[in-house]
Amino acid sequence: MQNDIEGILVSRDTIREKVIELGKRISKDYEGKDLVLVGVLKGGFVFLADLMRELSIPVDMDLISVSSYGASTKSSGVVRIIKDIDINVANKHVLLVEDIVDTGLTLKYLKELFYTRGPLSVKVCTAFDKPSRRKVEIEVEYCGIEIPDKFVIGYGLDYAGKYRNLPDLCTLSPKVYMKE
Ligand code: IMP
Repeated sequence: MQNDIEGILVSRDTIREKVIELGKRISKDYEGKDLVLVGVLKGGFVFLADLMRELSIPVDMDLISVSSYGASTKSSGVVRIIKDIDINVANKHVLLVEDIVDTGLTLKYLKELFYTRGPLSVKVCTAFDKPSRRKVEIEVEYCGIEIPDKFVIGYGLDYAGKYRNLPDLCTLSPKVYMKE
């Protein structure tokens, strides 16, 4: 596995500091409000698990699974719901928890979808952001760490289903995806 990693882009310690900071902000902003965290699978589950344990307010949570890039490093632009949430978000505040915002297509779709379900608000919290890659305009209310236009793995992010278990955010060696 180590041979496939080019290097560490964001260390686990830096990620941890950011998660604590976001947890404090979210706890303050949603104090006294009915909040549902919606983790976007598969990539968002590591961040969601860390983030929710930094919240000092009671929250409900659920998971939604959307199609990813498959075994490619390019976005197809097509968003498909594979598994929807089970709970009703009407009259509640929704916070979509993502691993990374890249083109923005996934979150734009999800934000619009959740708005049709009668929530009080729909906001986005992402661990990482690649703003230079944006194809659609989307407001990211809680942004973790901005990164350059590089394909990254670890901290929940995968390449062809692998490397999600790396604790740091790493860059993938181009020789791995050049084989595509
Ligand atoms: P978007 O719809 O282009 O914003 O893409 C969002 C999804 O693409 C993320 O939730 C990730 O699953 C995936 N993605 C985007 N960039 C990367 C990356 O650098 N590594 C791994 N997955 C990525």
